[in-house]
Amino acid sequence: MSNGKVTVRPAGEEDLGRLNDIYNRYVVETHFTFDIEPMTLEERQEWFTHHAGTGRYRVVVGASEGTVVGYASSSRWRQKPAYETSIETSIYVAPDAVGRGIGTRLYDELFKSLQGEDVHRAYAGIALPNQASIALHERFGFKRVAHFTEQGRKFDRFWDVGWYEKPLGSA
Ligand SMILES: CC(C)(COP(=O)(O)OP(=O)(O)OC[C@H]1O[C@@H](n2cnc3c(N)ncnc32)[C@H](O)[C@@H]1OP(=O)(O)O)[C@@H](O)C(=O)NCCC(=O)NCCS
Repeated sequence: MSNGKVTVRPAGEEDLGRLNDIYNRYVVETHFTFDIEPMTLEERQEWFTHHAGTGRYRVVVGASEGTVVGYASSSRWRQKPAYETSIETSIYVAPDAVGRGIGTRLYDELFKSLQGEDVHRAYAGIALPNQASIALHERFGFKRVAHFTEQGRKFDRFWDVGWYEKPLGSA
């Protein structure tokens, strides 16, 4: 990546190609996400229609000299209506840009943008091991509330998932 300043802002349609490339790299190479096949751009565009840019479901991107280097999102946790006040967050930084504070900037902006929204809990499922993700989530006040064993199968083996929870503003 370039060493230019990283700007964090709401995502737009034009960011989706690069955002998806970053995500798909982790799909193909790691257990960090339980997707197994790369997401198509059409699937990503459909996903984006559920992230209005206002309200509970949002996407922010970090851009360096016009290139997206990472993103964070808040999505619906589960469909049943009483779950509405819970969100699931997700965050991916380009492999050549990790460890430089970009993940921290992205979550900072995402959670700032959610202040005042009717959301009460955020959840993140971290497929283990993933020390960087654990450190980031703990930095933002997430606590591990569950350890599911062998919850997913990828690359011909089972993976445990640590479920992390963060209280948010709404009473
Ligand atoms: C997890 C991820 C988003 C963190 O973003 P990042 O820009 O690398 O993180 P930052 O530089 O902001 O650092 C955040 C914290 O993680 C720690 N950290 C970063 N990389 C680390 C590593 N490889 N091992 C241990 N800790 C690490 C930092 O020290 C920092 O901790 P601190 O707040 O206690 O100082 C990023 O590493 C990533 O995209 N990883 C691959 C995809 C992924 O795992 N996504 C999450 C799926 S649950």
